[in-house]
Amino acid sequence: MLALCDYLAGQPDRFLVLALLYVVHRLDGATALQAALQSETPRVQKAALLLLDQPPRSRGSLAPEQVIQRITASDEDLRQTALRVLQRHPEWVKQATALIERWLHQPDLTTEEQTGLRGLLLAFQHDAAVQQLAGAALASEQTPSALRFFLLKSMSQCSLNPLPPSWVEGFARAIESPATRRLAVQTVATLRVSSLDERLTRLAEDASEPADLRVEALSVIVCRKPELSNRAFDVLLQQLSAQTNTVARLAASEVLQRSRLTDAQTLGALQTIRGDTLISPGALLGAFQVSTGVEATAMLLEQLAELMRGSWQPSRQELENLVVRWPAEARAGAGALRGLLQERDEQARGRLARFEPLLADGNTVNGRAVFFSSKAACSICHSIGDAGGKVGPDLTKVGAIRSGRDILESVLFPSASLAQGYESYRVKIADGEELSGIIVRQTADTVVLRSASASEVQIWRSQVQEMDRAATSLMPEGLEQGMTPEEFRDLLAFLQSLK
Ligand code: HEC
Repeated sequence: MLALCDYLAGQPDRFLVLALLYVVHRLDGATALQAALQSETPRVQKAALLLLDQPPRSRGSLAPEQVIQRITASDEDLRQTALRVLQRHPEWVKQATALIERWLHQPDLTTEEQTGLRGLLLAFQHDAAVQQLAGAALASEQTPSALRFFLLKSMSQCSLNPLPPSWVEGFARAIESPATRRLAVQTVATLRVSSLDERLTRLAEDASEPADLRVEALSVIVCRKPELSNRAFDVLLQQLSAQTNTVARLAASEVLQRSRLTDAQTLGALQTIRGDTLISPGALLGAFQVSTGVEATAMLLEQLAELMRGSWQPSRQELENLVVRWPAEARAGAGALRGLLQERDEQARGRLARFEPLLADGNTVNGRAVFFSSKAACSICHSIGDAGGKVGPDLTKVGAIRSGRDILESVLFPSASLAQGYESYRVKIADGEELSGIIVRQTADTVVLRSASASEVQIWRSQVQEMDRAATSLMPEGLEQGMTPEEFRDLLAFLQSLK
């Protein structure tokens, strides 16, 4: 029997491990499996855990300590298996709770203990005692900031509806404390907490708070209070014009998109993004739907035509979606905009041909600098190696999987073909609110969307009224217009060199 375990500790095929252990399991029973559980090899331990936990082994074959001990295993697979086994034993919640409690009061946690704690919190999130422990630790001033950060991050991955009152209390306390304020507001935004609106409104109006934090606070309350006060609108405009901070601009435009703007505010916002290749007017125009003034309408149409002659390239569908929501007098003027679209489509082929010569002779070192510059903004959404954002696909090997022409097309016409897994979705929620982004996580009950500014929101499937794939990419069109032809040539050389 031990020889068999030795053999298993080599590198046999995954199915072979299970098959052989199954034989052990039938023939020799619990003693041999207990021996296998002591193996050095995580894979053997994992199979032994699973087999000890099912018939014909009796319920008591596995001691809770044997499972709990493996929750901090360095092997991810073994850790997950231990958690799954633990979840099948609600009668062990006491042991799990004791461990959670111990860890929450330990001054420092190792990386393994942190992963173990997060696993336990997620696995037992529905248990009232566990909820209470986590909520109280978050609320307590005695808890070190590092642990409160950790708790906030873990809680933002939970899917509890409604949220335990002790957590909401914990969030409120964490907002009061400057060290945890930012992360607390982000967590409240992800979990769409609705009962802290009053506090967040004060935060959004408070000029002594950092502007990005005020925008984050607005992103939580805007669905219930879509009209913007002057102060709120001002901070959004200020962020929208933050030329060197692309994330700030995207975050502000996402809030504007979800708010109900007056005509004057719409015009003000459009004025601010003129010449900005990152922020699409399409995003802001969702808010423009209740105009009454003829003059404002005429000004709006004029602005849009100007934007379309510049870098804005809405798809036909995008334009029509906007137009149907406009008042009659504005709709009549949309013909001119359609004409501009027609012209643009005719020019599109020409554009590809015009830029094609830029695929050769670029400098890859300069191209890398362009990629990571705030002007081109590529790296806020794309990663290369360890650096960059995660809203769009990882481009570390884009030169190996895409031809130069494909890469050029992806930048010139982002919505022409969407990279798999990065399609953006538009979700309409019961109260009429609309959110969009790529799907980063989903469970049977929830969907988590990530927006272009990388903020995440969790939505309950039961609240979803409509969910469509958006026809347009989250990647802005017209980015090439923010670069000189030489910069674009270098950028293309750099991307083609990524193999
Ligand atoms: C706001 C986020 C965002 C920014 C900024 C952005 N992209 Fe993208 N990009 C995306 C998303 C999302 C996709 C996937 C959907 C699609 O194919 O359009 C994508 C797709 C791509 C692809 C196709 C990848 C593939 O595997 O097919 C390339 C190439 C690319 N982007 C290059 C760039 C470059 C170069 C820049 C800077 C000039 C840039 N992107 C800026 C979000 C962004």
